[in-house]
Amino acid sequence: FMSELQDAFARKFYYLRLSITDVCNFKCQYCLPDGYRPDGRKSFLTLDEIGRLTRAFAAMGTNKVRITGGEPSLRKDFTQIIETVAATPGIRKVATTTNGYRMAKQVADWRRAGLSAINVSVDSLDPRMFQQITGENRFHEVMAGIDAALVAGFSQVKVNTVLMRGLNDGELDRFLAWIKHHPIQLRFIELMQTGEMDDLFRRHHVRGALIKEQLIRTGWQQKVRAHNDGPAEVFWHPDYQGEIGLIMPYAKDFCASCNRLRVSSLGKLHLCLFGDYGVELRDLLTEDNQLASLQTRLREALADKKASHFLHQGNTGFTPHLASIGG
Ligand code: GTP
Ligand code: 5AD
Ligand code: SF4
Repeated sequence: FMSELQDAFARKFYYLRLSITDVCNFKCQYCLPDGYRPDGRKSFLTLDEIGRLTRAFAAMGTNKVRITGGEPSLRKDFTQIIETVAATPGIRKVATTTNGYRMAKQVADWRRAGLSAINVSVDSLDPRMFQQITGENRFHEVMAGIDAALVAGFSQVKVNTVLMRGLNDGELDRFLAWIKHHPIQLRFIELMQTGEMDDLFRRHHVRGALIKEQLIRTGWQQKVRAHNDGPAEVFWHPDYQGEIGLIMPYAKDFCASCNRLRVSSLGKLHLCLFGDYGVELRDLLTEDNQLASLQTRLREALADKKASHFLHQGNTGFTPHLASIGG
């Protein structure tokens, strides 16, 4: 089934990232600006709205949905949301990105509901550093959650580690030791400048290319990018069960392989993480008979998607903190 969601640069969008809340029980330094308080009175997309939205995307070729947040598992209807998305004709993969806090208890339910892949944030393997970065002393719960996911039948878990100079950038060896015998794809993410965090960015940004050089020197090999893979570069090593991914949003060609669209928890379409105020969709999510109008709006919006965020050329457009649009 061909995707109708194609932009002016012939990129196809089979992949929707859907944020279902911007509330989170962690306070990661790089994500939530100091003092940010999600507005608890906001009403996030309902289960029905999520169902209609997913049907519209799926009817246009979307086959993968990643449910994000904030922390998606904070929604009481999270398992039902997984079920609804998984039951939508055309959707073959339902993934989530979580801080892992509730995973040990709930991951088996998520699996039964139809979840097919999980990404978890682990910014440090040192519990004290973990707390310093995330604001929460939950390292052991999160690691137990990852074990529980593997036991529940997920063949691989992806782990996100935001690289930060002076904080976790000395932990490469420890991370490598961990994935030697665990089927984990560990992705180092370059810190992105979002919200009002110029200062944090200046102090802690490290280029992912430094890790890449170290990996290549020690026998890691880059995997050939499969058709329709996202922007991560993936490396493997014969002595390791796990893999390493590098997400380097400031690299020149990062956006060329962009394959995803985003919808925020308040129902706005975001064509990019950067410099994008969003296109309202919610008025077209109230009735089943609005499907065709919704599809027209998606098609028209996509015509404006830019070739790149142009950050490497000095563009510093507005970027909301990632919890609001789900990263
Ligand atoms: P897969 O679906 O498994 O490919 O994972 P993913 O990397 O798309 O998802 P995840 O939610 O784990 O995101 C990891 C990090 O990559 C987050 O910080 C995202 O914001 C970042 N990221 C993912 N896609 C993009 C993108 O298109 N542009 C930018 N700048 N960052 C992205
Ligand atoms: N820079 C890089 N990654 C970020 N994330 C959130 N904010 C930022 C940022 N400023 C990542 C977290 C999480 C994912 C959803 O988004 O690591 O894994
Ligand atoms: Fe919460 Fe994820 Fe943001 Fe951390 S990065 S504060 S876990 S939404």
